[in-house]
Amino acid sequence: MAAKSPAKNPFDLTGQVALVSGGASGIGKAIAEAFLNQGARVLVGSRTADKVEAAVKELNASTPGNSEEIRVGGVTLDVTNVPSVERAVRKTIDLFGRLDILVNSAGVMLRKPTFELNPDDFNKLYDTHVTGALRCSQAAGHLMREQHSGCIINLASISSFVDLVEVAAYAAAKNAVMGLTRSLANEWAKYGIRTNAIAPGFVPTELNRKMIEKTDRGRRILEHTPMGRFGSASEIAGAAVFLACPAGGFVNGHTLVVDGGYMASGIGDAVAPWTIEK
Ligand SMILES: NC(=O)c1ccc[n+]([C@@H]2O[C@H](COP(=O)([O-])OP(=O)(O)OC[C@H]3O[C@@H](n4cnc5c(N)ncnc54)[C@H](OP(=O)(O)O)[C@@H]3O)[C@@H](O)[C@H]2O)c1
Repeated sequence: MAAKSPAKNPFDLTGQVALVSGGASGIGKAIAEAFLNQGARVLVGSRTADKVEAAVKELNASTPGNSEEIRVGGVTLDVTNVPSVERAVRKTIDLFGRLDILVNSAGVMLRKPTFELNPDDFNKLYDTHVTGALRCSQAAGHLMREQHSGCIINLASISSFVDLVEVAAYAAAKNAVMGLTRSLANEWAKYGIRTNAIAPGFVPTELNRKMIEKTDRGRRILEHTPMGRFGSASEIAGAAVFLACPAGGFVNGHTLVVDGGYMASGIGDAVAPWTIEK
């Protein structure tokens, strides 16, 4: 199939409609905001109704647009529940008439020594990150296949590549997210659907703030990060805009690492504190 003709502004998302699971906080909310700033309309969803309502208010206030026009909507969404996922997809269509971009950002974290990890813990994380992304991708994918265009963005992680200690269930799920990403990319490209993932480095959010801010783990992460700081959710959102917009139109099956250089750092730079000779 021929490539689409180049858009005037290849980063523009005007006319596009996105559904963002986990979109009421953290990285998902920042992605929703970035999409709105690029002209898209967005539905954000998570399990907590109050949080969703607050996020919709905040996004409406922080992004440009005509006050008459509905640009942001919210939905209570549990990605572990098929009827809930189907309701969210239906609400997107009822509100905006179409669905072009799905972002699977719903996620939970669990830190536990692996000897203490029980199968229920393990399955809960898998069900949210992996089966949840599958449920949403299938529900959105049916519509995208009909319109022969669509873009799915999954949230992988640094722990898709390297161990982060006592987060085995999370790591296993995030590895599977990459497998799911490649499978959909390969199988659904013929329906005009591109599937990619973003692997963020460390971004303090509700998910991990207690684990990494002002902790020994956090200090070790920063020492291993060439840029010497955590990322911000908006720095992850930039990657999502790229993957969703016409400029990213030939990217498929890729996992884009956005980590301040964490993955590039083997023993660290020569100015790392422990290399200074006494
Ligand atoms: N922050 C990082 O450093 C980092 C790094 C790598 C990858 N990630 C990934 O990025 C994604 C976003 O995380 P974040 O850091 O932005 O954390 P966050 O602020 O906690 O966002 C995750 C959201 O997912 C929602 N959620 C959890 N379970 C859900 C379910 N079953 N159905 C629907 N929504 C659900 C939560 O809201 P409710 O509780 O209201 O449902 C929450 O708003 C996650 O997949 C995470 O694993 C984050």
